[in-house]
Amino acid sequence: MNFHSKEPRHIIEAQQFDLADALRNGRDSCMAGKILTALFYEPSTRTRHSFEAAMMRLGGEKLSTENAKDFSSAVKGERVEDTIRIESAWSDVIVLRHYEDDAALRAARVSCVPVINAGCGKGQHPTQALLDLYTIKRERGGIDGTTIAVLGDLKYGRTVRSLCYLLGKFKSIRIFFVSPPSLRIGRDILEYLGEKSISYLEVDSLEHIIGRVDVIYTTRIQKERMEGLASGPEFLRLQHSYRIDAAAASKMQHGAIIMHPLPRNDELAFDVDDLPQAAYFRQSDNGLYVRMALLKWMFMK
Ligand code: NCD
Repeated sequence: MNFHSKEPRHIIEAQQFDLADALRNGRDSCMAGKILTALFYEPSTRTRHSFEAAMMRLGGEKLSTENAKDFSSAVKGERVEDTIRIESAWSDVIVLRHYEDDAALRAARVSCVPVINAGCGKGQHPTQALLDLYTIKRERGGIDGTTIAVLGDLKYGRTVRSLCYLLGKFKSIRIFFVSPPSLRIGRDILEYLGEKSISYLEVDSLEHIIGRVDVIYTTRIQKERMEGLASGPEFLRLQHSYRIDAAAASKMQHGAIIMHPLPRNDELAFDVDDLPQAAYFRQSDNGLYVRMALLKWMFMK
């Protein structure tokens, strides 16, 4: 397993998605007798619960701390490495969310069981990227040839970074990065896409491209990672600079979809929710099946 390394594990093959499809309906108890430990040092709803539900639906059990920053031995000064050494003694797999970019990598170095990065700092969130790709495939019938606009906080958000790494594995992908100038995507991602010959363009607004994309993938401003931006006019200005509402959705081409890793703020209006373009709740649902498939696959002989 290499989900804990700097790059997510680039082995996304169609058959893994077939496994997720199969698990949507079938019963499976492949994780019976195994324990998943969810160590979450940052808030989460979907990721932690979908991992736990995935483990339970596969017959396994879970140990979970939802606020490890305040309620684990971290409060007493314990380093994540020590916590992982301890937890890996009684766990079969550790799912880690942390506020430091390199926490999953450090955890993996000392863990004797697989570590899954469930989102670390502004670094990566590889299982979100897996479910994002699975969603594109389910909604649109394939991933090759997709033109996608990724919107919002591309500097501090981790989901888009992981998604780009995985999109780099596919053919004829075109990416528009739409963000305020202060929240541009990292150069490291652009260099990676360049190496993979993925065509991309950074733009300030959706205006001229909204009718040309297959997928809009929008994200919230990561205000918790930006000193002094918790609210106020600057925050609202940034948020509204790329807001998607029903009027914007009406300019999309037929069959195009809107995705969001959630949670949303004002960048995605509620009046989009009942439109056919709104794929984000299905995207969130897909997280369960993708995480079930991932757990099953990790322990396959
Ligand atoms: C994302 C995350 O934690 O990075 N949430 C999620 O896991 N679905 C996105 C976010 O918090 O903005």
